[in-house]
Amino acid sequence: MPADAALLAALREVQEPELRRSIVELGMVKGAALEGGVALVALALPLAPPDGGEGLRRQVAETLLRIEGVQRVEVDVRPMTDAELDSVGGVLKGVDPLRVVDASGAGGPPQPRRNPFTDSRTRVLAISSGKGGVGKSSITTNLAVALAQRGHEVAALDADVWGFSMPRMLGVDRSPGLIGDVIVPPAAHGVRLISMGFFAREDQAVVWRGPMLHKALEQFLTDVHWAEPDFLLVDMPPGTGDISLSMAQFLPGAEVVVVTTPQPAAQKVAQRAAAMARKVNLSVVGVIENMSWFRGDDGKAYEIFGSGGGEELAADLGVPLLGQVPLVPALREGGDEGEPIVVAHPDDEAAAAFRSIAEQLDVSLAPRRRHHPELRIT
Ligand SMILES: Nc1ncnc2c1ncn2[C@@H]1O[C@H](COP(=O)(O)OP(=O)(O)OP(=O)(O)O)[C@@H](O)[C@H]1O
Ligand SMILES: [Mg+2]
Repeated sequence: MPADAALLAALREVQEPELRRSIVELGMVKGAALEGGVALVALALPLAPPDGGEGLRRQVAETLLRIEGVQRVEVDVRPMTDAELDSVGGVLKGVDPLRVVDASGAGGPPQPRRNPFTDSRTRVLAISSGKGGVGKSSITTNLAVALAQRGHEVAALDADVWGFSMPRMLGVDRSPGLIGDVIVPPAAHGVRLISMGFFAREDQAVVWRGPMLHKALEQFLTDVHWAEPDFLLVDMPPGTGDISLSMAQFLPGAEVVVVTTPQPAAQKVAQRAAAMARKVNLSVVGVIENMSWFRGDDGKAYEIFGSGGGEELAADLGVPLLGQVPLVPALREGGDEGEPIVVAHPDDEAAAAFRSIAEQLDVSLAPRRRHHPELRIT
């Protein structure tokens, strides 16, 4: 099928929904012709979309119907061949096929993978704590969804390689896509996720040593097509060990949010996490207190784990207390079922707390994109 220049130009605007790149640029348009008012388009799909390609078909039709002379659109879709996938993988990695071949015609040295988060506009937020079980994963999940609900492109990295829990909490039920050797993160509730949970069995003990962790993290950052999100939230493993060092190296611009519970003992441990972050030159931008109270049927807030820990820690670190999240059974249930509370119970006070934290992270702590704060329109 010949390619009609006007059709191709219009199709350039259509993006592959998961890869967020133009379908023309990705080489997905295998033909586009106009015959007697009918636009015939042949597409090859790099990923098996959950809707069977229906959304893309519709988008192509809507785009082409805007062109004068097009009365009807017929879209034919087929999966890509392995060779086509390899070439898409090359496009995603930014490898120029003409450049890897040297003058003698032999293959040149492979181009090094680029860390997509150095010099990127993505804000990286690492959610950490000194000890386990304080709610890092629940907070990362709900905060990510809350940021997506505010209209941002959001991705999450479950860096808790031992106790990965984000796939379940976020309700991701698909494996990552594979295009050539590029990993495409599956998404749920508007958040793209990569987790060790996709690559290891849940009942399998993974024994990680420092260098392996480092390598895994590097791979998660460089072999994954992240498509430059506005935010990348990282669910850190508990503790202050090796992964903080690796993180600092791979994501030097990461901002750390420390999670603590209200009792003073927890706060001491959280302080160590903050100290570690600062030691590796990551900036701590705020504190979130979790399990702050439980509201009984009588409407009263019971401070089961004491009070003041979050505020004290924030004051010690000289950063804002971004919010207090109450203890609510629906939050745990949402985590178990893959329906985060900000989605399942948006009216709950815990959901409101997450939205407020997302807003603060979004507005008051967004120095990177605002080059001229004095020009802010109010
Ligand atoms: N505010 C809350 N209300 C009710 N349950 C909560 C709340 N925060 C966390 N939980 C529950 O507590 C448990 C531990 O939370 P979570 O897994 O988020 O913590 P974590 O800090 O990531 O733990 P780990 O260190 O093991 O990774 C989970 O079952 C979660 O559902
Ligand atoms: Mg966790």
